[in-house]
Amino acid sequence: MSIEISSLSKIFNKRGKEITALDNVSLNIKEGEFVGLLGPNGAGKTTLTKILTTLILPTSGDVYVDGISIHDDKQIRSIIGSVFGETGGRSLYYRLSVFDNLLFYSTLSGIRKTEAKKRINSLLHFFDLEDKKNALIMKLSTGMKAKVLLIRSLVPFPKVLLLDEPTLGFDAESSEKAKELLLEFNREFGTTVLLTSHNFSEMDDLTSRLVLIDKGQIIQDCPPSIFKESAAQHYVRVIFNLADFHYKSFEDLIRYSAGAEISFFREEDRENFVYEAKIKPSKFSLNETISRITILILRTGGEIYQIAPHIPSLKESFLAFLAINNQKEDPKERTVEEIFNLPFQEEE
Ligand SMILES: Nc1ncnc2c1ncn2[C@@H]1O[C@H](COP(=O)(O)OP(=O)(O)O)[C@@H](O)[C@H]1O
Ligand SMILES: [Mg+2]
Repeated sequence: MSIEISSLSKIFNKRGKEITALDNVSLNIKEGEFVGLLGPNGAGKTTLTKILTTLILPTSGDVYVDGISIHDDKQIRSIIGSVFGETGGRSLYYRLSVFDNLLFYSTLSGIRKTEAKKRINSLLHFFDLEDKKNALIMKLSTGMKAKVLLIRSLVPFPKVLLLDEPTLGFDAESSEKAKELLLEFNREFGTTVLLTSHNFSEMDDLTSRLVLIDKGQIIQDCPPSIFKESAAQHYVRVIFNLADFHYKSFEDLIRYSAGAEISFFREEDRENFVYEAKIKPSKFSLNETISRITILILRTGGEIYQIAPHIPSLKESFLAFLAINNQKEDPKERTVEEIFNLPFQEEE
C-alpha cells in the first residue's frame, strides 16, 4: 500500500476553541493510484496533505507512506514530492534565481548535480520557463512561482506526489501541460498521486478515484464516472412544437410511454406552440428515453427542433452531492460562494 491512513484525527486549538479538522479518517491508496481529494473550503484537505508530508502531526491515528510511519519524517520526505499551491510560494528563496532554487532543493533530496541539472532544464523547457531560469523568484508572477513549485516537487522523481492545489494561478495552457506531465509520471514511473484541486476538469481528466471530504470526514469514495451518475441528474432537454398542447396529457404520455418525468417546462413561443422541456429518465436509459420521447412527439403530430442529453459535469455533480449531503443534517442551504471561495481559477 502506498498510503495507509487509519482513524486519523486532527484537532486544532484556536484561542481556546477546539476545531476538528479531521475526524476519524481512514483511507488506503494503492501504489500507482491517481486519487483526487475534493471538498468544500475548510473540509480538511490541506490538513490531511500536511500530515502526509510530515509538516504537522496528527492528534491521533496511524499514517504510513510507502510503509514508513509519518513519525519518521526524514525518511518520508525522501520519497515524496509535495506542492502547497496556496502558501508554497513562500517556501522558495526570493533572492535566489529559479534555477538556483531548484538546484538547491534537488541536492537536498540527494540527486547528483549533473542529473539534477538535466531534469531541471528539461522541466523548465516543458513549462516554457527557460527564459526565466536566471530570474529571481521575487520577480516572478504567481503563476510562474506555482510552476517552479511543481517542478521542484517533480525533480527527484518521487514515489508519491502530494499536491494541494498545485495549479493555482496557472493559465489554461500551463494547466493542460501540468495534466500531461502528471499523467506521464503516473503512467511511466507508477507515481502515486494524491491531488487536491478546485479545477474540476483536472480532477475529471486525471483521477481514477475521487475521495470527497466534508467537515473532516470522508463522505464518498468512488471513480469520477460513478460519482457523476449518482450525484446529479442526467436528463433530456427537448425543444419541440405541438399544436393543441395540453400539459397534463403530455405529462402522462411522457410518464407512461417514455417512463420519464418532466423536471422543467416552459413555453418558448406560445403562438407557435413551441415548448422546452427537461425530462428525467426513470425507467429507461438516457438514449432509450430520447428515442421514446422523439417517437411520442412525432406520433402526436409535433416537430422536434432540438433534443439532446444533458450529462452533468463533475462540478455540477459535486455541488448536487454536497447539497444532498447537507440537507440531511443542516436544512440551511449554503451558496456556491460559501462552499468554495474559488480562488484564481474557474472551469471554462
Ligand atoms: N493551523 C490551524 N489552526 C487552527 N485551525 C486550523 C489550522 N489549520 C486549519 N485549521 C482549520 O481546520 C479546518 C480544515 O482546514 P483545511 O485543512 O485548511 O481545509 P481545506 O484545505 O479543505 O480548505 C478549518 O476549519 C480550518 O479553519
Ligand atoms: Mg486547503
